[in-house]
Order: sequence, then C-alpha cells, then structure tokens
Amino acid sequence: MIPIIKPDFGKEEEQTVLEIIKSGHITRGKWTLKFKEEFSNYIGTTFCHTVCSGTAALYVGLKAIGINSKEDVVIVPAVSFMATIDAVLLAGGTPVVIDINDSYTMNTEQLIEAVEKYNPKAVIPVHLFGQTADMDKINEICKEKNIVVFEDAAQAHGAEYKGKKAGNLGDLAAFSFYASKNVAMGEGGALVTNSYKIDEKISNWIEFGDHPALNLRITEFQAGIGYHQLQKLDENNERRRKIAHLYNKEFENLPGLIIPKEYPDRKHVYHIYALRHPKRDEIVERLVQEGIGARVYYEYTLHQLRNAEHLDCEFAELLTKEIFAIPVYPALKDSEVDFIIEKVKQIVNEVS
Ligand SMILES: Cc1ncc(COP(=O)(O)O)c(C=O)c1O
Repeated sequence: MIPIIKPDFGKEEEQTVLEIIKSGHITRGKWTLKFKEEFSNYIGTTFCHTVCSGTAALYVGLKAIGINSKEDVVIVPAVSFMATIDAVLLAGGTPVVIDINDSYTMNTEQLIEAVEKYNPKAVIPVHLFGQTADMDKINEICKEKNIVVFEDAAQAHGAEYKGKKAGNLGDLAAFSFYASKNVAMGEGGALVTNSYKIDEKISNWIEFGDHPALNLRITEFQAGIGYHQLQKLDENNERRRKIAHLYNKEFENLPGLIIPKEYPDRKHVYHIYALRHPKRDEIVERLVQEGIGARVYYEYTLHQLRNAEHLDCEFAELLTKEIFAIPVYPALKDSEVDFIIEKVKQIVNEVS
C-alpha cells in the first residue's frame, strides 16, 4: 500500500532523539529554544511560541486577541479541518462561515459582505492544502475596520504569497506539526506574530502569567525532530511541487477531472494534492483497491458540521462531494509516482 501520508525522518532525527534520551534533559531545553528561534527566522516573524498542537495554537491565539463571548464574531472559510471552527467555539466566540473560491481559500467577495453584516472581531484565512489565501485583499478589507487577521497556516509551512512566507501575512498565525504536516513532530504547533502586544497576551496564556494559564508545551524530542524537519523543508517542498506539477501535466485533460489551480503570485507547497471529480467515491474506492492511499479531504463543510451561522456556501458544498487527495509527500519514489499516475488515468477514464 502507498499510504496517503508518510513522515520523512532520517539519521539526523534519530541521532537527536537518542542524544536527548542520553542527556536526560527532555523538556524546556536547548532544542525547544533552537526550534523556536529557527522557526521564527524562517517565517520572518519577530515572535514565536511553540505549543502542543495546531488546535491549541488557534485557541490560544483567539484568546490572546480577545475572543471571549458570543458577541465576538470570527469569520472562517467553509472548507478546512474542523479545528479552525472548533477553536472559535472553544474560545467562546461566534464563528460565521463563508464560501471559498477556486483556490479553495476564502472567498473575498463574501468576506466584504460578511464584514458588513456581522461586524467581526477577527478573520481566519486558511491556507488550504498548502496555497495561501488572497492576503492582500483580506488585509485591505480588515485593516479599514480594525479586524484582526489570524492566519491558519497549519498546512502551509514554506508557502509564499508575493514572495512573503505564510505565517507572516497577517497579524498572527497558527501552525501545526502533526505527523502529516510539511514539518512533522508527531504532535505540535506554533504561534507567530510581529506584534509585541499580541505576543505578550499569548505568553500570559501559556507561561503561567498574570491569569490562569495552560501547560501546552512540547518536549525536547518534538523540538529536536522539528528542527531537522525545518532544515529539510525547502528541499522537501520542492519535491512535493515537482510531483504535483507532474500530476497536473498528466491529469489536466482527463474527463471530468479538475486539477488544483495554482495562482502565479503564490508558492503552493502541496501539503495535500487535491483533485475533483463528480464520481469521487468510486474513484477513491478503486484507487484504494489498487493499493493507493487516496482519501477525502474534507467531506464536511464547517457550517454543516457545527451548525454554524453562514453565508451561501454553494461552492464549498459541491466541493466536499467531489474532492479527494492522492499521495504527494517527498518520500514517494519515482516508481510510485508513475504507478499513481497510471492508475488515476486508467480509473478516471473507466468511470467517465
Ligand atoms: C487547516 C488546519 N487547521 C488546524 C489544524 C489543527 O492542527 P492539529 O491537528 O495539530 O491540532 C489542522 C491539522 O490537523 C489543519 O489542517
């Protein structure tokens, strides 16, 4: 079976984990500090806090910007992992869900409508599958009304918008280092920002500060693994892009199949390679029978999942019925890529 995800660990990770075991210093040590520093340098932000998951990063970020009560509206896109909306609900705010566009990120026309209608305190653009949202438009809409832009960059390590890294495109950003992510620790997350004020508020939520706080720390093991993953990120992202571009070329004329749209002003890092087809379920089932770990990301929209307030999300609702993913990670061998291409072509032609 070719799995849908496979973390890419080498000798460096192995040696570091052993070194940490032998040192006996397994938490709050040099690797945690080193990772924090390297990660904020890489993204280009002034401040960085590591936490135990992307969900925790979203939650703490929302608390830090003052999401506390039902009056605090946060706009989220209809297609994302459920943590994007769950964090808003856990923080005590009211999520309002809007549609996405053909980049599978936030529909900015609807953002204008939602801002007028709901007077939100924050907006969470999600850089879905590894491509950034249209951040210039989103920032322009939000700046005027003092709305906080909180990037969900959980799937976008190393992605760029007009040459600037995801995570450094709004007021603050959340990352995940879950096992499948482009930087993988097993579990983990980070919050980054350039704002001293936001950073201070984040600290108070996680550093036992001037109000009750949470212990969301990662261990030295996670930080050590993450450090090496970060050193390989650019190279690994290039491999992902190469595979994705080959898929795009091979699949662009298959009947009924829609390949991902990559915008020229953005660097897509293909955390997930997502295809669309009206006969999605049949294709996924047959790919799995062939030993290819195809999977549906996501079969739910966030407003339907959590019964949330929303604008018309017609495109998102259609997308969740048609979208599916095939393997795209750097550890894929060329022979596996060729096999996937051959089987996708064969099955799509047969079901059409
Ligand atoms: C877009 C998005 N947001 C948030 C999360 C939550 O991250 P975690 O699983 O580390 O809690 C994930 C990933 O799992 C994600 O893909």
